[in-house]
Amino acid sequence: MSTPLMQQYQSVKSRYPDTILLFRMGDFFETFEEDAKVTSRVLGITLTKRGNGAAGEVPLAGFPHHALEAYLPKLVRAGYRVAVCEQLEDPKFAKGIVKRDVIEVVTPGVAFSDKVLNQKQNNFLAAVALGSPLATSADILGCAWVDVSTGEFAAGEFPLARLADHLAGLGVSEVLVQKRDVAAIERILANRVSCVLSKLDDWVFNRDYGYEALLMHFKTQSLKGFGLEELTVGIVAAGAVMHYLQETQKSNLPHIRKIVPVDIADFISLDPATKRNLEITSTMSGATDGTLFSVLDRTCTPMGGRQLKQWVHRPLKRPESLRERLSSVGELVEQNSLRRDAQEIMSNLGDMERLLGRIATGRSGPRELTALKASLRYIPAIQQKAGSCASATLTDIATRLAPMPVVVDRIEAAIADDPPAAVANGGVIRKGYSAELDEVRGLSHGAKDWIARMQQSERERTGIGSLKVGYNNVFGYYIEITNSHKDKVPADYIRKQTLANAERYITPDLKEYEEKVMHAEERILQLETTLFHEVREFVAARSAEIQENARLLATFDCLASLAQVAVENKYVRPMIDDSESLEIVEGRHPVIEQLLPPGEHYQPNDCSLDTEHAQIVILTGPNMSGKSSFLRQVGLIVLLAQIGSFVPAKSARIGLVDRIFTRVGANDNIAAGESTFLVEMHEAAQIVNTATRKSLILLDEVGRGTSTFDGISIAWALTEFIHQRIGAKTLFATHYHELNELTQVLPRVKNFKVDVREYGDKVVFLHRVLPGFADHSYGIQVAQMAGLPSEVTDRAALILKNLESSELITHGRSGKKEGEEFQMQLFEVKDDKLRDALRKIDPDRMTPLDALQRLAQLKKDFDV
Ligand SMILES: Nc1ncnc2c1ncn2[C@@H]1O[C@H](COP(=O)(O)OP(=O)(O)OP(=O)(O)O)[C@@H](O)[C@H]1O
Ligand SMILES: [Mg+2]
Repeated sequence: MSTPLMQQYQSVKSRYPDTILLFRMGDFFETFEEDAKVTSRVLGITLTKRGNGAAGEVPLAGFPHHALEAYLPKLVRAGYRVAVCEQLEDPKFAKGIVKRDVIEVVTPGVAFSDKVLNQKQNNFLAAVALGSPLATSADILGCAWVDVSTGEFAAGEFPLARLADHLAGLGVSEVLVQKRDVAAIERILANRVSCVLSKLDDWVFNRDYGYEALLMHFKTQSLKGFGLEELTVGIVAAGAVMHYLQETQKSNLPHIRKIVPVDIADFISLDPATKRNLEITSTMSGATDGTLFSVLDRTCTPMGGRQLKQWVHRPLKRPESLRERLSSVGELVEQNSLRRDAQEIMSNLGDMERLLGRIATGRSGPRELTALKASLRYIPAIQQKAGSCASATLTDIATRLAPMPVVVDRIEAAIADDPPAAVANGGVIRKGYSAELDEVRGLSHGAKDWIARMQQSERERTGIGSLKVGYNNVFGYYIEITNSHKDKVPADYIRKQTLANAERYITPDLKEYEEKVMHAEERILQLETTLFHEVREFVAARSAEIQENARLLATFDCLASLAQVAVENKYVRPMIDDSESLEIVEGRHPVIEQLLPPGEHYQPNDCSLDTEHAQIVILTGPNMSGKSSFLRQVGLIVLLAQIGSFVPAKSARIGLVDRIFTRVGANDNIAAGESTFLVEMHEAAQIVNTATRKSLILLDEVGRGTSTFDGISIAWALTEFIHQRIGAKTLFATHYHELNELTQVLPRVKNFKVDVREYGDKVVFLHRVLPGFADHSYGIQVAQMAGLPSEVTDRAALILKNLESSELITHGRSGKKEGEEFQMQLFEVKDDKLRDALRKIDPDRMTPLDALQRLAQLKKDFDV
């Protein structure tokens, strides 16, 4: 039989499975059993044991309650959900076991602490609702996502096939899934989205329940006002999010004021491989420097930074919205001084969204209020800047920004300048705000003054110059007299404490004033707390307006940031249309051009693609010549244009694309336990299955992860398929010079090469992309440049010469009729083996059963 305490623990714990339960016991938070093992490992604290009556011992790990602020975020960052179980009554007055319950659950997707959050990154919790457990990629699912730290809440419905890209784009930290679908969702997200999956009971995923939960929260009659009424699975997902928030936050969500329907068909879908290869927000090696975002981000506010990241992850598809963004950026490019002034003002703004989140949920101290006030004060100035612009978005920002003088004045009037971090420290409410508070403060001061004066008057009365009035927590105020003056102590002193060389006394007067002070202090704290809460609630009640302001400021900030980059890096405004062609003149790679050492300049290159004539470009060129850079540069320019940014080029006309695919051959994914080549083929398969005529495909040496013959064959067949079936604009960089021959059989394939100059046995890289094809890889020269000993490179040159005169190349060159001859060659080897096997079979000496088995075996051996 367990002890009563452990029984209480078990009953709380049973309501929070898959969650680490921090169980308050006196001055400690304790964890037990499996939780204790995890906690001690993650936090590096000692694992011990606790006796549990007749039930033996349980593992235990704990830490002092005041360390919660430091330890809880660590657990959450490590991917765990954590429930904080507090004592609900003072143990001193409790009869029997102290009442305890969970007051909050913090999870990777539901966090407010700066120690968990990253300023430039939203922290999203999402829920996914499948229409049926057997949903396939074309089926519509519901998805809702919320950032509790900022109050942003949205929902949408889209095909299952887009789920992983969408969640990866949001950078979700946690996804809610109904138990029924856990395995299916795990499969879809595997290796593509890294987040915590939290399982909820199946009954939560129900439209009626979800609908009710949303109405209850928003206190509305229907969801029509949000434009959400028509959704089905979308509402299921939003309801699941709301359910989870209510469970974890105990309904303390006043700052979540609306839910926005999002049609993700408005956005380009970027799959994780493309994002990785284009190094949009993280480099291949996981760094944030040297990414597209690092070049683009000149935002001045945290909310602007987060919004820009969302823009970069979700490029737009509709020309109207893009043109609008582009003309705002254009205006800010031209209005140099206006832009600089606006940015200067905006750089004073704090993180209004997250400040509000903490204020509204009662997590903030006085300083958050003064920080919010300081930010709100800048609104009129920013509004005036936006108001002097002409473009639609900027004028809209100007009209909708709402200075909030009432809020500013209220905080200003109530909260002292430079208030302490916590209300308990006192001195939070400004003098003059509350007559009652001022009066009590006066009493307290009067009493303290009297006590302070007492030291002097008692010194005079007793003639003891060293007499001191002091204070401690146990005895309150006292008079201290050293032993040498013991004989002069007046008769009305009451002895309280004996020290080594002094005695401490009190007098009835002293105690009376002490009483007054204590009483006043207590009352002051009470009043300050109440008044502070009132102000906080006053602000919280205006959450929606403050959030709207923050969102508008974020947008202004993003537009100004894009304009700033355009000016500094000499970008041009792209022309965009709905055509299927792409015309970039003197384009540059936005990141590499920034990283070149001083003195070196980036060689600009043109790119012209269209689905009618030049649909596919096969790009050959030596190692190190700039093939990969060229591919990425084209991808990034299109991406930039589609987030509404100017682009690094002399001019650009961009037919909007619906997706961008970037694939790089031989991209290791050892961590995910997949072979290099398998990953490459997975990624290629995804293109073949999802690209459309309006997509842009960038293939960088795809096929390289296997033997040359296999690689060439796959690359060849893939190009054919894209040409004949998909029709998407494609750039294919390759060392397989054999692919150049595709131009002879496929009309819309063009050959380009990156130019190099040869001087003796040295090569100079010109990084210039020209029509034509390269017939050398200059790999050996590059190896030489890298410092490989000449013994190796000389030998390699000799082997190369032999190889070049051998059949491999000759065969490649002769594949002129749709590559037929070339492919036959590849299959010959297999056919010979089959012939051998057939030769060994003697039908006369086989039973029908033998024959059948043999046939099956052959099929298996030859993999048909
Ligand atoms: N247009 C350019 N102007 C100046 N420097 C460039 C240009 N393009 C590429 N470079 C530089 O050349 C280096 C090699 O480029 P890149 O990796 O694109 O070559 P590659 O042809 O793909 O080589 P490999 O065949 O080995 O993959 C880059 O790191 C970059 O610094
Ligand atoms: Mg390359």
